[in-house]
Amino acid sequence: MTIFAKTWTMTLILGIETSCDETAAAVVEDGRFILGNVIASQVDLHRRYGGIFPEVASRQHILSILPVIEEALFGADIDWDDLAAVAVTYGPGLAGSLLVGVNAAKGLAWGRGLPLVGINHIEAHIYANWLVKDAPPPVFPLVCLVVSGGHSELVLMTGHGQYQRLGGTLDDAAGEAFDKVGRLLELPYPGGPAIQETARDGTPSAFKLPRAWLPGTYDFSFSGLKTAVLRIVQQHQTQSGDKASFKLRATNSQHPPLTRLISVANLAASFQTAVVDVLVEKTRRAAEEFEAKAVLVAGGVAANELLREEMSKRNSIPVRYPAIELCTDNAVMVASAGFFRFMAGERAGWELDVIPSLRLLEKAPA
Ligand code: KG4
Ligand code: ZN
Repeated sequence: MTIFAKTWTMTLILGIETSCDETAAAVVEDGRFILGNVIASQVDLHRRYGGIFPEVASRQHILSILPVIEEALFGADIDWDDLAAVAVTYGPGLAGSLLVGVNAAKGLAWGRGLPLVGINHIEAHIYANWLVKDAPPPVFPLVCLVVSGGHSELVLMTGHGQYQRLGGTLDDAAGEAFDKVGRLLELPYPGGPAIQETARDGTPSAFKLPRAWLPGTYDFSFSGLKTAVLRIVQQHQTQSGDKASFKLRATNSQHPPLTRLISVANLAASFQTAVVDVLVEKTRRAAEEFEAKAVLVAGGVAANELLREEMSKRNSIPVRYPAIELCTDNAVMVASAGFFRFMAGERAGWELDVIPSLRLLEKAPA
């Protein structure tokens, strides 16, 4: 006897994500409800290098991809026949990593007779905001801040799949700045969560750090801030009689631990506040200028507690964030974006290829 009859109106999408260092697969219903979600993280593997090692990442994706997809379907308690389509990230990201996901998706979709939908990773991050439990879907127009390890983009979203890029980083992405400064402060990889933890015991006004306001634009720049942190570290190392190298160093240097020379907590707190200040202020101004109904924050850095707190405090319109576990890379967000593109009639051809430098406004190849 069937206890649980599935209504045939629901549309189930299998999402696949391998753009960086997470191998992920998920099943999402109607773009909003998570049925299965599996992430095989490679963070421990890359920690010894202090950052992502692309060749190691793609080899690990090859090992994980099929078990991860099988587990996502098993967790969702569905068969291949229940799926409406397969959605996969085809850019931006690491070429070797993207190739694993795209080829798995193409092979499985072909083999199972399912349509294929190509998804932009930045768009997927935005769609993590459609998966917030018990909240109605966001209403357009929206100003979206996408801040991750690879991207910092401020985008006006006027409808599903309709974007106007307002600005972006001119150098490091916000997450990249967190990771580089984390390394400088001799904190473990990834730097974002480590800086957040360390900053809890620090005073944000302890160090006067620069903010690149870049007036008249919605662009960001974090390289000056990163260099300012580097100079402070070097100054203390030099004062302690240590001849510091003028390069960003890995944690296993011969120098005395930084914590003996300086308040790392104060420097972490001052850095975090400087990044958050600029991100929040630019987003707030954009939301006002474009009369947005809400602000969406997305990407790994959207997990940052100070960013979430300040963004809500300084905006007069609603601010939405994905659940913390959906801020960093996952396939749920790919399946959600895939649902809306699938419903709009979009299909990728079997020639779908990876585009490592894909931008948000480029359309998936038909
Ligand atoms: O979205 P994501 O998983 O990967 C990319 O698409 O790049 O983002 C990873 C980035 C890393 O740079 C990491 O340091 C940062 O997100 N991150 C954070 C926090 N959690 C992750 N940055 C600041 N605060 C956090 N709590
Ligand atoms: Zn990402």
